[in-house]
Parts: sequence; C-alpha cells; structure tokens
Amino acid sequence: MDILKDRILKEASVINSGVLKLDSLLNHGVDPQLTMEMGKEFAARFAGEKITKVITVESSGIPVAFATAFQLGVPLVFARRKKTLLGEPDAYIERVPSFTKGIVTDLIVSRDLLNADDSVLFIDDIIANGDAARGLIKIIEQSGASISGIGIVLEKSFQAGGRTLRELGFRLETLVKIQSLDDNTITFAD
Ligand code: G4P
Ligand code: NA
Ligand code: NA
Repeated sequence: MDILKDRILKEASVINSGVLKLDSLLNHGVDPQLTMEMGKEFAARFAGEKITKVITVESSGIPVAFATAFQLGVPLVFARRKKTLLGEPDAYIERVPSFTKGIVTDLIVSRDLLNADDSVLFIDDIIANGDAARGLIKIIEQSGASISGIGIVLEKSFQAGGRTLRELGFRLETLVKIQSLDDNTITFAD
C-alpha cells in the first residue's frame, strides 16, 4: 500500500534496529481517512472468504479492525489485555509476552463473543515475533471458530512472526513489509 509507505517514511522514527515508533498512525494517534483505506484494502483482499467476525487485540489493533469490520458489515471483538490474578471461567485466556513492553499479560475474550460457527478474520497493527497473534489464535481455536485469515498493517519481516504464521498454514496479508531498520533507515521489503 503505497500511501501507507509514504506516510511511514514521513512520520515514523526508528527507535533501534528492532523497533519503529509510529505513534501518529498506529500506536497513539489515528488518521480516520487512512485507517478506512486500510480497512477497505483488507476487506477487498479477504472478499472471497465468508467472514462472520473481525477480531483484534486492544488497543492499537482496534481502529483498523473496526474499519475492516465496517467494510465487511460484520461485528468486531477485541481481546482485552490484562494482568489477571484470578481465573475467569466465562472467558478464554492465553498468557503472552509483549515485545515492546517486556511484560507478560493475558489475552482475554468472553466466551459469549466467539462461537463455534464463526469464521474469524484476525486484524492487527504490527507483527513482530507473533506472540500476541499465536495467543489470539489459540483463543479462537478453543472457541471452535475457524480462522479465515489474518491481516496485519505492518510486518517487520526481519522478525519471525509473519513467517511462522504462514508456515502454520494461515493466510496472512500484510499491507507493508519492513525488511530492516538497521542504520537508522527504514527499508521496505517490496
Ligand atoms: P508479536 O505479536 O509480533 O509478538 O508482537 P508482540 O505481541 O510482541 O507485540 C507486543 C506489542 O508490541 C504490540 O502492541 C505490538 O503492536 C507492539 N510492537 C511490536 N513491534 C513494534 C514496533 O516496532 N513498534 C511499535 N510501536 N510497536 C511494536 P500491544 O502490546 O498489543 O499494545 P497496543 O499498542 O496494542 O496497546
Ligand atoms: Na501495538
Ligand atoms: Na497490537
């Protein structure tokens, strides 16, 4: 998605060779027009699938997941990310490490919001090592729902998350791939 690449070059900054700061577009601010374009792009790429629900993880995945769900005309569910002390019998829970925050949290989805007859599209903002993605996939699988595909705005292809999901057989669509952040420079893969 060329408009997104242009905006990343203008607005992102390289924190180090592993982390990009993208506050104005993904992680702190939202451009509604651009976000709706991302949603249209995902909806078009997955148009052939019979999707009944879009799912994401709070918080940065929500705007683009909302845009995608709006285009597809289906509901959105976002997993909560919490540090839980007690079990929650009415919810699916998976413990995952967080790449940027260096902490472990639980992803939580109420059992009422996912059904065995759902075909789910998982949308998220960034994929690094894929821990959050794998946790959410486990939750979807526990519910008995099927996973129609995964759409992620930014794939850092120098980290293993995207590759791992493709090797597991998931259909993964990413709007922009970054091959390297070395030398303080953003290098796209395509
Ligand atoms: P993974 O799924 O690929 O393993 O990523 P991981 O769970 O480790 O990512 C944890 C958080 O770190 C996610 O946000 C993800 O978007 C973010 N993240 C990963 N790489 C980068 C990066 O290069 N730059 C930025 N800005 N964020 C990155 P989260 O913890 O779910 O928090 P939130 O932003 O959704 O609130
Ligand atoms: Na994030
Ligand atoms: Na996220």
